[in-house]
Amino acid sequence: MCGIVAYTGHKACTRILLEGLKRLEYRGYDSAGMAMVQEGVLAVRRAAGRISALEQLIGEDPLEGVTGIAHTRWATHGAPTKKNAHPHLDDTGRIGLVHNGIIENYTALKTWLQSQGKSFRSETDSEVLVNLISHFYQGNLVDAVQKALGEVKGTYGIAVVSADHPNTIVAARKGSPLLLGVGENEYVVASDASAIVEHTTSAVYLDDGEMVEITPEGFRTLTLDNNLVSKELENIEFSLQQIELDGYEHFMLKEIFEQPVSVQNTLRGRVDLEAGQAILGGLQNVAGQLSKAKRIIITACGTAWHAGLVGEFLLEHLARIPTEVEYASEFRYRNPIIEPGTVVIAISQSGETADTLAALREAKQRGALALGIVNVVGSTIARETNAGVYLHCGPEIGVASTKAFSSQLVMLALLAIELGRQRSLDQQQARELLGHLSGIPGKIEKVLAQSDQIRQVAQLYLQREHWLFLGRGYNYPVALEGALKLKEISYSHAEGLPAAEMKHGPIALINEGMPTVFIATSGSQYEKVLSNIEEVRARGGKILAVATENNAQIHKHVDHVFTIPEIPEPLSPLLTVVPLQLLAYHTAVGRDCAVDKPRNLAKSVTVE
Ligand code: F6R
Repeated sequence: MCGIVAYTGHKACTRILLEGLKRLEYRGYDSAGMAMVQEGVLAVRRAAGRISALEQLIGEDPLEGVTGIAHTRWATHGAPTKKNAHPHLDDTGRIGLVHNGIIENYTALKTWLQSQGKSFRSETDSEVLVNLISHFYQGNLVDAVQKALGEVKGTYGIAVVSADHPNTIVAARKGSPLLLGVGENEYVVASDASAIVEHTTSAVYLDDGEMVEITPEGFRTLTLDNNLVSKELENIEFSLQQIELDGYEHFMLKEIFEQPVSVQNTLRGRVDLEAGQAILGGLQNVAGQLSKAKRIIITACGTAWHAGLVGEFLLEHLARIPTEVEYASEFRYRNPIIEPGTVVIAISQSGETADTLAALREAKQRGALALGIVNVVGSTIARETNAGVYLHCGPEIGVASTKAFSSQLVMLALLAIELGRQRSLDQQQARELLGHLSGIPGKIEKVLAQSDQIRQVAQLYLQREHWLFLGRGYNYPVALEGALKLKEISYSHAEGLPAAEMKHGPIALINEGMPTVFIATSGSQYEKVLSNIEEVRARGGKILAVATENNAQIHKHVDHVFTIPEIPEPLSPLLTVVPLQLLAYHTAVGRDCAVDKPRNLAKSVTVE
């Protein structure tokens, strides 16, 4: 949510900052801005809307310099206008700041600063922070930032420049990610590695409560109470190619099509077919505790929460461990019961989701073994868990999560098999499941081959404003996920439900021509799903079904069929979700929606 990029070095940095902002645009895209020290003063350009608006503005009114800060915004305090866009300057115009996060006590601070004579131009909490820094500034920028942050309640990732120190950037973090890319006499600060990787793959990840002072000559890392800390240089593990479109029209489509490879990458080195074992190295140091787990609580948000629901089926079915799935935002405020033997698993693509992070901290504080299933290496959730596993599915740029979901399912299946082997699953059963898991990439390819057919079907329903998605058992969470995908990128209203629940109310919605998507693959509940299909048909609804490929009979019951290859039921969500991702994608494109940057959304929700 919101993106920060800042540069100091020996190169003219306007283009570097603009390119960095474009890489971060998926994090927020309602306004953008840039500031640089030019001839002893801070020059600022800001624009409402996309980065392209800022680029145009800078084209007409250029900025030049070798040290600058830039920001792309997802509005929290104040409308997405030019006035509220970052960077914000203090009222002397000598200090500039970009900020991700929320200053919770900004109203009180603003009133106090006003009483001290400070004036404000915007409605943002960030402008309060830069004026607070200015209030404490007496020639030493690091000292002023430390004193200001000492007064602040809330979360922040910030980068600060000052006209008095033309080649210096001061950056700090608490609860909002920030890292420093280290090149040769040049440095890039960013909220996300994707803005850095073009310049260097060496990085220092700041931890909460840390700050860094950077000039082209070097940098020093400190705690907010001014103790020097020495930080390791870490390697950013992905390449530039992974964050480019590579010929696809949208990142979402690229990421849907990447799934055979991303699933393979999640599986790599983690399957011992011979022994019938999953190898989860990241959990090795807690293996003893895990083997004694009495209860598992999975906590997550959005798509990751849907993956967690599939995880509940897998862990209860294969490992016979009682499992619950909690919205992270609810878990943390619910006074949860954590007894000895409770394991809490946080699932998060970004590893930065504020609610999931807070739930994880709550669980840890109450004595749970806290594990993570995370994609972004070095992210806050990954760092704060007792142990965890990375998805290794590569950077996910499309705001709608797709390949991370399939990799989360793979990881949960591996975990359930591994825990199952210690309990109720015999070697042969584990071998079979692991064999099928290894065959998933090839089967996803077969589903992807139907993309064009799915596009044609999507065309028929572009004008429809209401959809239902229904499934049972393992595929009930997939119905929820299909509905979420459709609504977030095509803005059509969609509801996902366990198929039998339809009769308890939502069936009233069905009228002539209303599209209902059923996951009707072969398995324990197929006949029941067929009955639900008939109930919709009887009321004139249109039916799109995801079915198993050898099921010739399904065509008699439904209007459109997308098929998946045969697969054991516990692994079927890995295939059934793919046509639903494609359906959402083609519907959104057909409705002319901004697929990778849906309105009001941003990747990585770092505010509560
Ligand atoms: C939906 C989507 C969101 C995220 C949710 C959690 O397509 O992307 O629902 O799944 O915000 O994000 P992570 O997994 O980063 O914690």
